[in-house]
Amino acid sequence: MAKRKSTFVCQSCAAVLTQWAGRCESCGEWNTIVEETTNAGVGAGPKSAQAAGSPTQLVPLSGESEDAARIITGIAELDRVTGGGFVQGSAVLVGGDPGIGKSTLLLQAAANLARRGNRVIYVSGEEAIAQVRLRARRLGVSGADVNLASETNVETILATLEQTDRPDFVVIDSIQTLWTDRVESAPGTVSQVRTSAQAMTRFAKKTGAAVVLVGHVTKDGQIAGPRVVEHMVDAVLYFEGDASHTFRILRGVKNRYGPTDEIGVFEMTQLGLKEVSNPSALFLDQRDEGATGSAVFAGMEGTRPVLIEIQALVAPSPLGTPRRAVVGWDSARLSMVLAVLETRCGVRIGANDIYLNVAGGLKVSEPAADLAVAAALISSLSGAPLPSDAVYFGEISLSGGIRPVVHTPLRLREAAKLGFNSAFTGRGGKGEGSTGLNLLEFSSLAELAGRIAASKPKTA
Ligand code: TYD
Ligand code: MG
Repeated sequence: MAKRKSTFVCQSCAAVLTQWAGRCESCGEWNTIVEETTNAGVGAGPKSAQAAGSPTQLVPLSGESEDAARIITGIAELDRVTGGGFVQGSAVLVGGDPGIGKSTLLLQAAANLARRGNRVIYVSGEEAIAQVRLRARRLGVSGADVNLASETNVETILATLEQTDRPDFVVIDSIQTLWTDRVESAPGTVSQVRTSAQAMTRFAKKTGAAVVLVGHVTKDGQIAGPRVVEHMVDAVLYFEGDASHTFRILRGVKNRYGPTDEIGVFEMTQLGLKEVSNPSALFLDQRDEGATGSAVFAGMEGTRPVLIEIQALVAPSPLGTPRRAVVGWDSARLSMVLAVLETRCGVRIGANDIYLNVAGGLKVSEPAADLAVAAALISSLSGAPLPSDAVYFGEISLSGGIRPVVHTPLRLREAAKLGFNSAFTGRGGKGEGSTGLNLLEFSSLAELAGRIAASKPKTA
């Protein structure tokens, strides 16, 4: 019998320790060390057909290659994020908070693929067959030719998949429920998740099926279990959204066969997820026009321009250390914009409580949002509402200058399409003449701050 070995594995970073500790010395997390027993070495997958030590075949780099064959779901927002459909023989990890709609999205995708003539298998380790059927009925896809299984053991799943005709598309919902005989620790632990993911990835490579693994995320937003699963798969998609809003965003964070900065936008309805092909209209839907502290940012998500409302509230602080609360944007970036406003533009803002919110629960990471944030802050501080028909974009440098950003014409075109009349941006953004928009170019933030403050309505 193989020798059993006990190791202590951090559930957060997968570091292996020789003894238990309260805090992982590798990633610094507390209470993440769990004892795991393995008899095949950590991360060992099912044995490959080839014996260890025998040579493999070498091939020239210049050989024939075909473009990766893809299976298209027909759900345009999903196909956009995968880069034009799921690649055959690839493994994809779809992560997201519980209840965000991962199972719903994948069941809809599975049904669509089945309707298009693909062999589809949906393995649920979390729900009973009856529950999956109930959901399918609700989504109006119960007629689709999808084969279901409710199973959590990797060896059983692989045996099932191998006994049928080679499937084109396999969904495993979720990776945290899987367990393999090869590892003795509990399902959901690092070794189990990693070994199971490895087995499923190997199945995808071997048979040419596209395998989708569903993964839950922890409270700090990472896919539970090891990050190493992210390295094992070919693509990682995050499904995010905010429980209080109906729309959901599918974001590619890694993709060996496509773009990583694309998003797909969906709306959760009573009848499942609906595609949103014009997200700007959705994000600007309930805008308070004419309110102070509200600026529309003309942003880019991948290749697609998206207009997003940025809201700021600047209020006198009763505290010695003023509050800073940021939702949907980087708080370090906010500190930078505030420092530039203070020191380069003479705007006294630092002693106030500051709340910043990206409306609709979207997360913005582009530096081009600096200008919209600054405009919203100045507007709230000075009590001067911004023109409701204007968009803002531009990166602020530490010197107080405004730099133009890429894709200016695309941003302007989107703004024009949605009825905006002017755009505030940095100088030299090559946007001239591309739309009928009135382009207001500023070379410094101080110039823009002066203009916004001067527009304050006179009070009696
Ligand atoms: P689900 O796909 O089960 O989420 P996950 O697999 O990510 O945990 O989605 C569950 C939520 O979606 C649940 O709160 C109910 C809601 N929902 C709808 O609003 N409409 C629908 O048609 C379906 C199927 C679910
Ligand atoms: Mg689910």
